[in-house]
Amino acid sequence: MCGIIGYTGKKKAMPLLMQGLKMLEYRGYDSSGIALAGQNEFKVYKKMGKLENLEAIVPRNAAALSGIGHTRWATHGGVTDANAHPHAGYRGKAVVVHNGIIDNYLELKQELQGKGANFLSETDTEVIAQLVEHYLVDQKMTPENAVLTTLGRLEGTYGLGVMFADHPGLIIGAKNGSPMVLGLGDKEVFLASDASSFAGLTRQVVYLQDKEIAILKPESWETRNLRNEAVFRNAEELTWNHEEAKKGDYDHFFLKEIFEQPQSVARAFGQGGRLVPEYGTAKLGGLNLDKREFFDIERVVFIGMGTALNAAQVGARMMESWARLPARAEDASEIRTGNPIVERNTLYFAVSQSGETADTIASIHEIQEKGGRVLGIVNTVGSSLARMCNGGVYIHAGPEISVASSKAFTNQLVVMGLIALFMGRMRVLSLTQGQAIVKEFGELPEKLQAALGCRSQIMALAKKYRNAKSMLFLGRGIMAPLAMEGALKLKEISYIHAEGYAAGNLKHGPLALISPEVPSVFIVANSQNLDRVVGNMAEVKARKGPVICVSNIDTPKLRNLADDLIIVPETCEELAPVVAALPLQLFAYYLAMELDRDIDRPRNLAKSVTTE
Ligand code: F6R
Repeated sequence: MCGIIGYTGKKKAMPLLMQGLKMLEYRGYDSSGIALAGQNEFKVYKKMGKLENLEAIVPRNAAALSGIGHTRWATHGGVTDANAHPHAGYRGKAVVVHNGIIDNYLELKQELQGKGANFLSETDTEVIAQLVEHYLVDQKMTPENAVLTTLGRLEGTYGLGVMFADHPGLIIGAKNGSPMVLGLGDKEVFLASDASSFAGLTRQVVYLQDKEIAILKPESWETRNLRNEAVFRNAEELTWNHEEAKKGDYDHFFLKEIFEQPQSVARAFGQGGRLVPEYGTAKLGGLNLDKREFFDIERVVFIGMGTALNAAQVGARMMESWARLPARAEDASEIRTGNPIVERNTLYFAVSQSGETADTIASIHEIQEKGGRVLGIVNTVGSSLARMCNGGVYIHAGPEISVASSKAFTNQLVVMGLIALFMGRMRVLSLTQGQAIVKEFGELPEKLQAALGCRSQIMALAKKYRNAKSMLFLGRGIMAPLAMEGALKLKEISYIHAEGYAAGNLKHGPLALISPEVPSVFIVANSQNLDRVVGNMAEVKARKGPVICVSNIDTPKLRNLADDLIIVPETCEELAPVVAALPLQLFAYYLAMELDRDIDRPRNLAKSVTTE
């Protein structure tokens, strides 16, 4: 969603801010803006639409050595130039960029209008700028006190960057429920919602915590709590590589990330370092539970949203199969809005690529509040979720830039599989069974590479089905959540309507949709479910529905029924979704290509959904 970049230092700020905003584009946005510091003034440039619109109006050679920039994804107020950030106080003394939502902005707006403030936008953010300016000008507060007093009046969430006309070089950042990170260079400091925005410029970072502010000057930085007491934080080294966040020879990040999966999956099991062939188990350092504590666990719940929720559904099935532990997946937004029953011996896992998804964060707060123990399965190191959890396992997918998730999904599956194996070996799996599973993990990269070989077949399929207005994705058992994921991928990047169902549900409603214009994609693994899925395919064929089948077994039963059959390498049933995910991702990609969609930045969507 919205992104923030700020810079203060010895270099010209404008190019650095523009570069930072470009790196933030992947989060999704509909307008952007920049404020540049001058002598006793700042200049604000903002425009709706793509960054090129902003680039066209900012002065190329602006001399400013500090500034703040923003990409906005509209929540309060339509997509207009006026609603784009930064927002300034009406006397031009304070200017603000903001991520998050201020719940009590209408009361504050009325109060400030009563004092003579003139508002130019419909946003909640503008009240922050007006309030800071009020304390600064009318109450003669210092910039730090004006920001702290303002924060004390806000209800809601914020990641903030504030600049002041009379203090060029000073930027104050603040965080409450929306990520903020400082990047430390040589006599320069960056402030950002996402470390990728200063990638390649510094690797030294400081993650701001909730209810903290950061005071940035070219040669210094400090962090304080909302009581204005100093908080000491050490800088950390960024773990990922700047090159990984580039598109290279690929047309889209989504395609690049699909093709990275043989390597990224290998990272999920630590290139073998997380596998222990001798004992047929997995070694996961961050779980922070000793083996005795694992014995007490009676139930496992995986929590996530969107693709992470689909992955969680697969993870729950892996856990039940290998560890014979009752497991389920939960939609974080439903936990958040309900009143979850948190049981003593239940272990919760938060699954999230970004580690910043507002619903997932809120559900974890609620579970922790009720005494539950939550571990993270997270990609982004140092993210809010990674910090909130009582331990966890990083999935090491590397930066995922495309809004639609691909490699994070398969790495989430692998990490949940490792946890299921580890717990399974403590409970029910024999050494021989564990060793066979370890071998299966080890073979995954090679099998994923082979699965990518279906690319040209899928390109032809995309041409064949480019006019479909709707599609069904169907699978049984562990392939049922993969069917949901296949449907989600297709709808989000191609805008073709798609639904994912457990194939057993077909006759209970979805069969009514079947017609020659509505293709069905069946995802099949070599398992005891095979004959039942074949039965479902026959039901679709009998109603003249086109059948596409992704399978890890090539049998005449499937050849006779499917109009198009895509064969991927066979694995054990629990890991079959990792391999079968790839043709589904490619299918969504090439259909979106056929329809000329904005694949890396699908309309209305944001990479990290930081509002509930
Ligand atoms: C779909 C997609 C989203 C995310 C969801 C959760 O391709 O990317 O559905 O999976 O918004 O995001 P994270 O994993 O960052 O919590």
